[in-house]
Amino acid sequence: MKYYVDDTCIGCGACEGVCPAVFSMGDDGKAVAIEGEVPEAELSAAEEAMDGCPVGAIHQGEE
Ligand code: F3S
Repeated sequence: MKYYVDDTCIGCGACEGVCPAVFSMGDDGKAVAIEGEVPEAELSAAEEAMDGCPVGAIHQGEE
C-alpha cells in the first residue's frame, strides 16, 4: 500500500504525530508521505493517520 498527501493539507501535523515513519512535514509546511510501499508494520498507523486527517488530505494509492 502506498500513501500520498494532496494539496488540501493545512499542515496541522497530526499525521506526523500518529505515524512519523510514513508522514513528515515538508519545507512548504505540508505533509508528505514516504515514497513507495508503506512497511507492513506501519500500515495500521498510516491508516489511522489517514482517518484522522481533519481535511481528508491523505489518500491511499498513487498520486
Ligand atoms: Fe496535513 Fe492532514 Fe497531515 S492536514 S499535516 S495531511 S493530518
